[in-house]
Amino acid sequence: MMPVDISPIHFFDKQPVQAELQDTFDRKLNYLRISVTDRCNMRCDYCRPAADAYQAEPRSHILQFEEIERIVQVAASLGVNKIRITGGEPLVRKDLPKLIEKIAAIDGITDLAMTSNATYLAKHAQALKDAGLHRINISLDTLNPLRFKALTGSELQPVLDGIQAVKDVGLFPMKLNTVLMNGINEDEVASLIDFAVEVGATIRFIELMPMKLGMDWDKHYIPISDILAQEEVQARVDISPMPTGNTAARYLPLKSGKGEVGFIMPMSDRFCEGCNRLRLTSDGGLRSCLPEDKHMNLRDVIRQGGSDADIAAVFRRSALIKPEIGTYAFDSDADKRSMIQIGG
Ligand code: 5AD
Ligand code: SF4
Repeated sequence: MMPVDISPIHFFDKQPVQAELQDTFDRKLNYLRISVTDRCNMRCDYCRPAADAYQAEPRSHILQFEEIERIVQVAASLGVNKIRITGGEPLVRKDLPKLIEKIAAIDGITDLAMTSNATYLAKHAQALKDAGLHRINISLDTLNPLRFKALTGSELQPVLDGIQAVKDVGLFPMKLNTVLMNGINEDEVASLIDFAVEVGATIRFIELMPMKLGMDWDKHYIPISDILAQEEVQARVDISPMPTGNTAARYLPLKSGKGEVGFIMPMSDRFCEGCNRLRLTSDGGLRSCLPEDKHMNLRDVIRQGGSDADIAAVFRRSALIKPEIGTYAFDSDADKRSMIQIGG
């Protein structure tokens, strides 16, 4: 064994052992996305396989709030400071504000956000704000009720009411997320931008990813560059130049001066280089990368009596296997998961 050097000069020289999570490509992992359920009241074709081909996990497989809280405590001790609650639809979990309250109280969590389809926000926006949620992202792909119904199987109006409620209770900043689909909503970009300005939200447009989908990716994928070529978009957005950088979303200013519009290009301009994320699936899987299926299960570790050190060890191993770039298997559907299983 190496003798330990405790001579004063070295003692003060040395950095403490790095507690923070870092991967093998020098990326610091400080952001954990937590899916709290794989259930949803909607049936968006880009999020799950075709009609009823997806069976939700039995409830006993899903992490309990106390288990999630413990995982976040350990993650925070490893330098994670940013949490996003996703699903499925997080608000199909009963008493979700109680979980928000637990997480908001954990030392070191400086950013606590949630993604929702907004259906239940008219009822719960105030409780979420009171529980300590910092901000919310809402999925909104079309403003046309018929298209909305065809895409999601649900009604648009409760979603609009939910967005209004977020505005009313002042849960800002509010973001809207639109997945772009050729032949479905590529002609609504300008009106969605106008709507976002009206409700005081920042809208981001996202390229369709080839997860296991209930729709044909080849047919519906449209790159952001095609959107920026639209005249009515150019009338609103100052399109030159697209900023570079490692963040998932790139923002361009609105010509009106009333904010900006975001573009997320997982297909045409990968942003893996600056990735700081890990993902916890609703059944406890810790995934180092969205399309990476190799993962360890924290629910098993916890339910087998594992210690906090065991949980931390799983985080460290997950960081070590994080790939440099996420790759989607375009050629085979066999082991692909859909977004609802992983967490959007
Ligand atoms: N491509 C891109 N984004 C997706 N989401 C779900 N499925 C996909 C996909 N195939 C994201 C969207 C949606 C959130 C729940 O997950 O942003 O709003
Ligand atoms: Fe539900 Fe969101 Fe998936 Fe649509 S995209 S089915 S709203 S989780």
